[in-house]
Amino acid sequence: MSYNLLKGKRGIIFGALDENSIAWKTAEKVHEQGGTFVLTNAPVAMRMGAINELAEKTGSEIIPADATKIEDLENLVTKAQEILGGKLDFVLHSIGMSVNVRKGKHYTDQNYDWTQKGWDVSAVSFHKTMQTLYKQDAMNEWGSIVALTYMAAQRVFPDYNDMADNKAYLESIARSFGYFFGTEKKVRVNTISQSPTPTTAGQGVKGFDGFIKYADEMSALGNATADECADYTLTLFSDLTKKVTLQNLFHDGGFSNMGVSKKVMDRFIEE
Ligand SMILES: NC(=O)c1ccc[n+]([C@@H]2O[C@H](COP(=O)([O-])OP(=O)(O)OC[C@H]3O[C@@H](n4cnc5c(N)ncnc54)[C@H](O)[C@@H]3O)[C@@H](O)[C@H]2O)c1
Repeated sequence: MSYNLLKGKRGIIFGALDENSIAWKTAEKVHEQGGTFVLTNAPVAMRMGAINELAEKTGSEIIPADATKIEDLENLVTKAQEILGGKLDFVLHSIGMSVNVRKGKHYTDQNYDWTQKGWDVSAVSFHKTMQTLYKQDAMNEWGSIVALTYMAAQRVFPDYNDMADNKAYLESIARSFGYFFGTEKKVRVNTISQSPTPTTAGQGVKGFDGFIKYADEMSALGNATADECADYTLTLFSDLTKKVTLQNLFHDGGFSNMGVSKKVMDRFIEE
């Protein structure tokens, strides 16, 4: 349903790979709410071609950018403002990748070149994006920047591997950069800590099927879907949340505050 929550707002959406991507759902919903945006993804991801369909559907242009490369980000931010006709109101960072996870390297046996690559893609790219926006003074006052994260930043999930550390770093960047963006440009910066979600990145985590089921049974409201995550992100892009900043916001059906649920307990009670 459209409330025109984002009417007149302009932005950049990173990370729509295919129709399961959280960024894909967000782009569809931002469009529904009257926002306009540029879509971006790493040049290698473009080869899959699905993003063209999303661009067509939402009347958006695509600007490829590797989010670890400053020159790509500078080009993206400059061109996005030209295309959209002014400064930006919202940015979604929906990027994550661990080479150690992809190649099945255990957390206790890291290849540190891969660790560094994953850290750059999953965490430092958020700093690079914000620094580029900041230096170009590309955000409008009361704009909103959101990145997606996972609770392995706070608690142990053994198979989440080095992504846990990357997410902790990402959340810290949101606070640290959010301070400067807030005081100097009145822009808010938050992370949304989302439930396990069946996407390409999500399913890359070992044992994902068990993991998502466990989280679902442990949550008071069940897992939050990608669609619901998109809805939540809209509220953070809207003018209804202007003083929410420097936060890590759990969007997980209550999972993060659970000790145990009856459903999970029942599995351990012997008849
Ligand atoms: N799926 C889950 O279970 C889950 C849970 C919590 C948080 N998240 C986070 O949500 C975000 C989006 O992931 P998703 O689940 O929609 O999966 P996804 O695989 O659809 O999206 C990840 C995106 O990152 C992009 N990317 C990778 N390297 C890049 C680079 N160098 N430059 C630019 N883009 C690059 C990929 O092309 C892809 O579009 C990630 O930050 C992820 O960690 C996912």
